[in-house]
Amino acid sequence: MNVDLVVVGSGFFGLTVAERCATELGSRVLVLERRDHIGGNAYTENEPETGIEIHRYGAHLFHTSNEQVWEYANRFTRFTGYRHHVYTTFKGRVYPLPINLGTICEYFGRAFTPDEARALIAEQAAEIPAGREPRDLEEKAVSLIGRPLYEAFIRGYTAKQWQTDPRDLPAEIITRLPVRYTFDNRYFNDVHEGLPVDGYTAWLERMADHPNIEVRLDTDFFDMRDGLVGRVPVVYTGPLDRYFDFAEGELGWRTLDFETEVVPTGDFQGTPVMNYADEDVPYTRVHEFRHFHPERHYPDDRTVIMREFSRAADRGDEPYYPINTARDRERLLRYREMARREDGVLFGGRLGTYQYLDMHMAIASALSAVANRLRPHFEQGERLT
Ligand code: FDA
Repeated sequence: MNVDLVVVGSGFFGLTVAERCATELGSRVLVLERRDHIGGNAYTENEPETGIEIHRYGAHLFHTSNEQVWEYANRFTRFTGYRHHVYTTFKGRVYPLPINLGTICEYFGRAFTPDEARALIAEQAAEIPAGREPRDLEEKAVSLIGRPLYEAFIRGYTAKQWQTDPRDLPAEIITRLPVRYTFDNRYFNDVHEGLPVDGYTAWLERMADHPNIEVRLDTDFFDMRDGLVGRVPVVYTGPLDRYFDFAEGELGWRTLDFETEVVPTGDFQGTPVMNYADEDVPYTRVHEFRHFHPERHYPDDRTVIMREFSRAADRGDEPYYPINTARDRERLLRYREMARREDGVLFGGRLGTYQYLDMHMAIASALSAVANRLRPHFEQGERLT
């Protein structure tokens, strides 16, 4: 095979590796992609009836404080000035998230100063005595934000996310529940934030647009593996357990189901993302994509919404969020050891490392893999694992 490197997967990790190796190291790169499109989970497409750009695998908001990643991303796209905000509906009323002074004033029905709100939440959180280890997720959440806010904004949402009563979930799932004692409800705190002006797919296609890069869609690495591994260096961004034929058991993931609908109104909910905290509403959130791009001209009599449902993934489902139980972590250690011994194969990206990575983290990790592993491999003949 007349290539220097095979990259399995065309998500942000795979495409960053491919682009850097092609452009900087002059490598000929073959990208194999199982799906019928590039871009991994960041892929977007226009809904045909309305032309509204939808995020097929869930809403993707770009934000970073990493200057190197920001500079790199800006080589392929310009960004809008979009700033993300989220609201939640609970018992027929709407509140801003993350929990902030506005949420607290609205929920308890009166004006609080920051100090008063802090004192109130501290008093409510004292229900779980300091020094006693919380026994489950519910106790942990109450110890952080008190019972009233937990019951309104965390309990039902978490139960739906995990399809499990929070009293049966381990405390370690949450380490912190940020409460802001200001009215600032900007979702991300990063220095840079925005959405690609002409969409994620255009950005991702520009990354792959290089004479040294060939992308083969509808192509599963496992159908070609024997002819590749050991003959050409491979960067693998598919699921880690699948690579080793699940020899140590499966790593647990949560998946999402999406229900997309065109509705006959110019504005369904007045905001891009509305969470639903009530347990008896089966979905966790509703996305309305037109609000990601208020600068665009979209039809004013129709809009596209997407309801999101969460559940544990079975084999064959799209793996979205690592569950990370103690058993998963034990298995992960064994898989990592196997990956370390797999000569000529570099495991990366969120599936290849069993780690939730935001886009900017996937790009940062790919840039460092090129600098610290692939460049030394190609230029000094260092072993690639
Ligand atoms: P990614 O999953 O994108 O790509 C892996 C690719 O490998 C896939 O295209 C897959 O088809 C391919 N592949 C797997 N096995 C293969 C095989 N055997 N042969 C060939 N190809 C194979 N981030 C962020 O910054 N802001 C956000 O708002 C969000 N939102 C968000 C929502 C949801 C629901 C999820 C699941 C994730 C996000 N993310 C996010 C994270 C973002 O999607 C993530 O950072 C990138 O997908 C990481 O890129 P990777 O290349 O690692 O994986």
